[in-house]
Amino acid sequence: MAETLTRFAGPPVGVYACANDCGRTTRLPGVCAGCVEDEVRAKYQRELLPALRSIPPRFQWAIPGDDEAAERLKHARIKEWPRVRRELTEAVEAGRNVVLLGPKPQVGKTSAACVMLRRVIERGALDALPEDTRMAALGSGPAARPGERPRFASDRLAEQVRIARGARFVAVRDVRGESPEAIEARREAKRATVLVFDDVGDELDGAPAASGWIPDRITGTRDVIDYRHKRPELKTIFTTWLPKREMARFYGGGTAERVYEHAAVVRVGPQEGGA
Ligand SMILES: Nc1ncnc2c1ncn2[C@@H]1O[C@H](COP(=O)(O)OP(=O)(O)OP(=O)(O)O)[C@@H](O)[C@H]1O
Ligand SMILES: [Mg+2]
Ligand SMILES: [Zn+2]
Repeated sequence: MAETLTRFAGPPVGVYACANDCGRTTRLPGVCAGCVEDEVRAKYQRELLPALRSIPPRFQWAIPGDDEAAERLKHARIKEWPRVRRELTEAVEAGRNVVLLGPKPQVGKTSAACVMLRRVIERGALDALPEDTRMAALGSGPAARPGERPRFASDRLAEQVRIARGARFVAVRDVRGESPEAIEARREAKRATVLVFDDVGDELDGAPAASGWIPDRITGTRDVIDYRHKRPELKTIFTTWLPKREMARFYGGGTAERVYEHAAVVRVGPQEGGA
């Protein structure tokens, strides 16, 4: 091996200080594997920032925990979190849309959706790590040996990272109207790989069903729902106080159908009536 290498003009294999002065060594002059890895990780973290920043600051606390017990404590504000967590996780892992349904306010619909969105984003961050490191982090493999180039998991990784990067939280209220902000919010909501579309019905501002106020208020909402419905690879987590039949009264049966069709309905808080 060493002989083969010395036939080339390059520097001999040895022990060199990392060019970044990180204190580690490399077998060839240059930057060490650890520094390459740090840089890759930082790059992926940067790319995930728009996804993370779409989550409103008041839900910064809603993050997945290290273990279930820690999570249960942290998410005591979400009614029946262990069940909600289980149903939500199952649905998302099965690639289904979700309707987080809770006719009562402040029961934790939005919080639960934020926990799940962060999980999607974090998964992208984890998968972005070199394979050896990721395996070690998951406790199922050795870390890269010093001086070895990190290996990267290929296609699946790229896919997870793309999904994580494209994940977004958009408040339904924000897609209402024709302001530049509303148009931009609609664009974001349409292209999100995984979208938390928060609080369908909030944008009605209390307008009664079938009243003249409705059409203008729901145009943006329907636009986003229709667009995403035609693209089943885009996943949506809706939060709403509107069971299907109620939703149909405000938005029409077609829209309600597109929201609830194939979606897992996860109930949060005390319920009245059926979906
Ligand atoms: N930043 C915060 N600090 C303290 N408590 C909070 C914070 N954000 C939310 N909560 C509490 O967490 C609980 C869940 O709130 P969340 O907004 O998730 O409920 P929701 O079902 O989405 O409500 P709504 O129907 O009003 O949208 C509530 O009791 C709320 O008061
Ligand atoms: Mg909410
Ligand atoms: Zn280094």
